[in-house]
Order: sequence, then C-alpha cells, then structure tokens
Amino acid sequence: MGKIAIYPGTFDPLTNGHSDLVQRAARLFDHIIVAVATNPGKTPQFSANERIKLAQIALNGINNIEVCGFDQLLVDFAREKQASVIIRGLRAVSDFEYEFQLAGMNRKLAADIETLFLMPAEKYSYLSSSLVREISSLGGDVSEFVHPRIETALCDKMR
Ligand code: COA
Repeated sequence: MGKIAIYPGTFDPLTNGHSDLVQRAARLFDHIIVAVATNPGKTPQFSANERIKLAQIALNGINNIEVCGFDQLLVDFAREKQASVIIRGLRAVSDFEYEFQLAGMNRKLAADIETLFLMPAEKYSYLSSSLVREISSLGGDVSEFVHPRIETALCDKMR
C-alpha cells in the first residue's frame, strides 16, 4: 500500500482546518488514516460514530484516505494499520508545548514511528472544534468553518 500516515484527533467535529491538513498530507503519502479517538477524557459532544460519519462526509472526494475510530494507544493503532508516520497540525506557537509532549511520549512508546507536523492554511490558524461548537450553540454562523452537513449536525445537536 506504500507509505501510510495516520492523522489522529478527537474531531468533535472535524473542521475545515482539519480537512486542509488532510489534503496536504494526502499529497505527501500514499494512504492517510484519519483516526478518530474515542477520547473519554474530553467528553465529546458528538459520539464516536457521529464523528466518524461526519468526517467521512466532509472528506469525501479525497481518494487515498480512510476514516477509522480507535480506543487504544495511538502507537498501537498506528502499528496495527502499518502506519509509520503520525501527522499533527501546528496552528500557532501555543500548540507547540502540548504537541512537543505528545510527540516525545509517542516516540518513547514507539521509536520507529515518526511524528510529522504540518501547518494548515493561515486562515485556519485560529480555528478549533470547541470554538465552532460554542459559536454554533449561541446561534452564530459557522458555515465558513465546517462542511455544510456538519453545520446542520451542529444545529440539530443544539436544538
Ligand atoms: N484545524 C482546526 N482545529 C484544529 C486543527 C486544525 N488543523 N488542529 C488541531 N485543532 C484543534 C482541535 O479542533 C481541538 O480543539 P478543541 O480542543 O478546542 O476542541 C484541538 O486543536 C486539539 O484537538 P485534536 O487535534 O483533535 O487533538 P486532540 O488533542 O483532541 O487529540 C489525541 C489528541 C487523540 C491525538 C491523543 O489524545 C491520543 O493520541 N489519544 C490516544 C491515546 C494515546 O495514545 N494516549 C497517549 C498519547 S502519548
């Protein structure tokens, strides 16, 4: 299958910033696994199945990707999927400390798996899933930030 990379996250929900990153990664690797973490620590608003379905809809059209859920150690899931690279996004300097810690720990757990950082387009540098959820819950317009089906799902959830 060639070079496989895994792009993990909570994706609650997937935003246009995440999609931008997937598109960049898809040009660099033969196959991208978008790995949706169950992440009970974050008490996501959308269930794991909803997040997977919404990500599949938003990323439909990028041929060399698949969206999967996982509820184990990321490095174990990466190995299971034969991915040798973990993709993470860096939006701003403020992301760095957390990402540095995550990449360091993942390297400690699995020295053969590299973490690669990509920057989304500048216009997405201030975007996050929690801001999108907050804006939507207060009746704001999030159409610029998420796929139309995700916008609808957010509205339905808030109702
Ligand atoms: N565009 C828009 N937003 C982005 C973004 C981009 N390109 N990149 C990151 N973000 C935002 C997300 O929306 C999210 O915002 P929020 O917290 O306000 O909702 C935030 O940045 C971080 O989210 P995300 O990128 O989804 O990562 P995460 O921190 O939720 O995910 C995991 C962390 C899932 C990768 C990590 O917990 C993990 O690996 N878990 C598996 C268990 C494991 O192996 N643990 C040990 C790790 S050493």
